Parts: sequence; structure tokens; C-alpha cells
Amino acid sequence: MRLLSLLAGYLSVASATTLGKRAPTPGQLSQVTGVGPTNAGFYIYVPKKLAASPGIVVAVHYCTGTGQAYYNNSPYKTLAEQYGFIAIYPSSPHSGTCWDVSSKKTLTHEGGGDSNTIANMVKWTIKEYKADASKVFVTGSSSGAMMTNVLAATYPDVFAAGIVYSGVPAGCFMSQSGGVDAWNSTCANGQSTATPQKWAQVVFDMYPGYNGTRPRMQIYHGSADTTLRPQNYQETMKQWAGVFGYDYNKPESTKQNDPQSGYTRTIYGPRVQGIYAQGVGHSVNIRGNDDMKFFGFAA
Ligand SMILES: *[C@@H]1O[C@H](CO)[C@@H](O)[C@H](O)[C@H]1NC(C)=O
Ligand SMILES: *[C@@H]1O[C@H](CO)[C@@H](O)[C@H](O)[C@H]1NC(C)=O
Repeated sequence: MRLLSLLAGYLSVASATTLGKRAPTPGQLSQVTGVGPTNAGFYIYVPKKLAASPGIVVAVHYCTGTGQAYYNNSPYKTLAEQYGFIAIYPSSPHSGTCWDVSSKKTLTHEGGGDSNTIANMVKWTIKEYKADASKVFVTGSSSGAMMTNVLAATYPDVFAAGIVYSGVPAGCFMSQSGGVDAWNSTCANGQSTATPQKWAQVVFDMYPGYNGTRPRMQIYHGSADTTLRPQNYQETMKQWAGVFGYDYNKPESTKQNDPQSGYTRTIYGPRVQGIYAQGVGHSVNIRGNDDMKFFGFAA
């Protein structure tokens, strides 16, 4: 909250608009207040060159990060100007600023947790800017990557695609005792393993009865990750392959040195692919231009 009030000082209170008291100013990071149900901060970057019927990219920060830090340290504001989409940078309300990816609330569609709040940020933005609801995407790093998987699972009706930089499967941090924003060593250490069918069921259970389309997923992970062990890459691939009914053991293709030297791209089916970064630790660099291709903004 300290940061939020600090930032509020910088935010312009734009004059007559239909956007509410604190209207986002194009070309600068702005805060929107009053979107819940949790106290996650809602920061938004509306580009100066906003596309007609713009898309939306939600960019979710890592532990110790903030919406503002991710705005500064990721390429999405530059890409927003280039492609005309709106970027949303949620800011964790929890001490230590990890995301809640452990409570039943956040692991449930409209469950009242952080995932619910982020989905509401998207809904607010679609309404205010007449954004294209079919072009809503999510990405994030580390805790934000975990949240990306959680959002893809809890809000398949909202997101068209997700890109995960060093996360764990949706539900892998699930807390037995119902803890909010709880760390889960078993998962982090790569010891939560299951079949593709079981992992898929974890996703299905987050939005029971949902039978619409689900987001395309691209998963990055480093082979030398000691924070979220690399087994989490395999488990996440099992999860999304399972969700789409692809055979995890028989990927469509595996290509070495793609998209760069030392990386291997495995395509499980048209909607799921993984990129394993040999020798890379927990911080896999964001490949912004490639993200734009995966999201469909760039050819
Ligand atoms: C950690 O997550 C796993 C699922 O990945 C779960 O079975 C386990 O109970 C969780 N640990 C705690 C302490 O909640
Ligand atoms: C899919 O869900 C919709 C909305 O909940 C429902 O009306 C429809 O019957 C469902 N279709 C199938 C095949 O289950």
C-alpha cells in the first residue's frame, strides 16, 4: 500500500472523461482504483497510439516485484506502443509480493482471490476501452508465471493465450491448509508429479462445467533453475498437453536451437508448446518479439 500511495502522487487526474475519477493517461503508467475483490494494485499502460478495438496483455510480476517494476523491466510498454494494445500490470497485495497461487479462492473461477481480481481488471479495461475480448493475453515471470497458469486455468473464457516464464503447473502450489500466498516447497522442488490426466483434472476442477475454448499456452523454463526446479517444466507440459488431449509422450515436433542456441522447442499440438532453455537459471529472458508472434500481434 505504501507504494500505491506513493505512485498515486504521480498519476494525473485527467479531466472530463468517461473513465472515472482517475483516468489512465495515454503514454504513462496509471493506477485504477476500486477493482477487487482482493487489494491487488491495478496499473495500466494505455499507449499513445491505441489501436481501434485494442487487444490487452496482462503482464504479471515476480516475487519482490511490483506492477511498476515489471512495467520498467519488461518489454511490454514498448510493444504496446508498437502494436497498439493495452498493457495491464497487476501488483501483488501480499507481503513479499508473491501472488496467491495457493488458496482455494484463487484457484477457483470467480472464487474471490487474486485471479478473480486480475480477471476483473481485464473486464474493466474491455468495457472502458471497447477492447477486443478475443485478443486478451497473459504472461508473467516466476510467481507471475505461476499466476499465468492459474489465470489460464480459472479464466479460460477470458484469455486467448498465455506465455509462462519459469513457473509451475496451475494448482501445484495448492495449500493443504488453505493458506493464501503460501510457499509450497514440494512443488518448488519438483516433487509434485502426476500424470497428464491428473494435472488436466486439476485445471478442469478450477472451473467446473466449462466447455468452451481454452488459451493456447507457451511455456519457457531453464534447465538450471534452482528456485522452481526444472521438473516443473515437464509437469506443466503434461498439464496443458493433458488439457488439450495431446499425447505428452509423443509431441508433434522437437527442434533444437529454436528459438535460439541452446533452447529446445517442443510442440505438443497446435495449442501447446514448451521451450526448454539449456543452462539457464530461474531468470529466462523475456522474448518480447516472439511473444508478439505467439499472441498474434505480429506475423
Ligand atoms: C503442496 O502442493 C501439493 C500439490 O502440488 C500438495 O499435494 C501439498 O499438500 C502442498 N503442500 C502443502 C504444505 O500444502
Ligand atoms: C456447454 O456449456 C454451456 C454453458 O454452460 C451449456 O449451455 C452447454 O449445454 C454445454 N455444452 C455441452 C456439450 O456440455
